Formats: sequence, structure tokens, C-alpha cells
Amino acid sequence: MPFIGREKHPIPGASNGLDGFSQLKQPLSRPSSPSTWASSAESGLSTNNTEQFFVKPVGMRPNTVFIGRELELAELHKMLMDKRRRAEGTSAVLLQCLPGGGKTHLAREYIYQYRDEYPGGIFFVRAKSLAELAAGFWDIARKVNLSLGESNNPQHFVSAVRKWLNRRHEWLDGIHFSYTQDLRNFIPDSKDTSLLYTSTERAVVDHHHFMNPQIIRTPLLSAREAQILLQS
Ligand SMILES: Nc1ncnc2c1ncn2[C@@H]1O[C@H](COP(=O)(O)OP(=O)(O)OP(=O)(O)O)[C@@H](O)[C@H]1O
Ligand SMILES: [Mg+2]
Repeated sequence: MPFIGREKHPIPGASNGLDGFSQLKQPLSRPSSPSTWASSAESGLSTNNTEQFFVKPVGMRPNTVFIGRELELAELHKMLMDKRRRAEGTSAVLLQCLPGGGKTHLAREYIYQYRDEYPGGIFFVRAKSLAELAAGFWDIARKVNLSLGESNNPQHFVSAVRKWLNRRHEWLDGIHFSYTQDLRNFIPDSKDTSLLYTSTERAVVDHHHFMNPQIIRTPLLSAREAQILLQS
């Protein structure tokens, strides 16, 4: 698959396999401390079955202002909960628009409004590079207390997280990507689960490795909504 995305320096020599991992140099092999990584999640509640995992990038908070987009929110929920798709595996949706068009704002609003619909957990990672994506998976492994032994290899914990997700249900995985070269190695698949991509790119559309996401093109705010935003 050709490189598509905004990453200016894709990992050289990476292929469709897991080869990209071999390019991850220290401190991007398994970190001794999460602070050495490109991102680090917060919360990720305990392993108690009655509590919900919530892994998200540091600093992610509910929106203080959210204007319009009621139709998109409803449409997004309908697509993510698509019964036919979820009966077979993960129901995936891509939120796509130009830079600054409101994808992250909408995804964040969705996650906080609909959090209770995902008792299996919410796992939101950023993927501007292979390293950032692997770091997000490390955060998940850490928060859900996966036993990783002494392995020093990102390929192992990425695979362990993916297998863990594949065994579980009713989760929402969110991936904000601009890097796609090895993305397919990170995509879980399990019945009654949902996957939300946000990107300016369409690279994952109509691709079975990415669960054939349905697409929502986030429209610009209307003039009226933009005016309300400016006055808020
Ligand atoms: N529905 C909305 N209500 C209020 N403010 C909004 C809304 N949508 C977008 N904004 C404002 O526009 C800014 C840019 O939106 P956002 O970060 O979601 O864009 P993006 O599409 O994710 O951009 P990028 O492609 O750079 O990731 C937000 O920080 C927010 O201030
Ligand atoms: Mg964004």
C-alpha cells in the first residue's frame, strides 16, 4: 500500500507486514516509563468488571462549546451501532473533512455524550506516526493490565492489545490518523464493537483491512452556527 498522509518522514522500508516495527528505535521500543513515549493516556479505570475502561490522549477533555452537528451526531451513532455490521464484526465509520473542519470536536462530543453505550470501554489513540500509534497501544496495554512478560518488542504488545480487543465486545476504538502505512496491523475486529476513524484522508475507505468504514464528511458550520460560535 503506498504511503498516504501528512507524515513528512514515513518510516523507510516499512511494508504491509509488521516490518515498520523494526524501524522503531529507542526509546520507542517498549518503554520503561510511559513518559518517554510520544503520548500517554490518562484514566483507564481499573479492571473491575463494573467499571469502564476509558483510554484517551493526555489532555483530552469534554468540549466546553459545541454548536450544531445534531444530525451528524445522530448519523454517527446510527452507523457505529449498525446492527448488521456489528453482527459480523466491528462497525467502522470515518469522519473526514479538511484540516480544522471540526472532526476532532465532533468525535470528542460523541465520545462524551455516548460513553455509556460502550460498557466494554473507549480506546482513543492518535496516529500521526507509527511511533505515536504504538505508544497509544502501549497505553491501552498498561491500563487494562495486560501481562506482557519481559518482551521488549512493540510488535508483541500491539498484537496482545489487538487480541485482547478481539476477545471483547461493546467497545469503541477511536483512531485519529494521518499515518496509514502500517495502520492495518492495529485494527481489531470483534462482534458488537465500533471503530471511529477521524482523518483528512480517505485511505481506509472501502478497504476490508480497515473494516470497510462508512464515511461521514463533516460539513463546514453554517454561517449562523459560525456566528453563534464567534459570540460564545
Ligand atoms: N461543532 C463545533 N462547535 C464549536 N466549535 C467547533 C465546532 N467544530 C469545530 N469547532 C472549533 O473549530 C476548531 C477546529 O476543530 P477541530 O479541531 O475539531 O478540527 P479538525 O477537523 O479535527 O482539524 P485537524 O484536521 O487539524 O485535526 C475547534 O478547536 C473548535 O474551536
Ligand atoms: Mg483533529
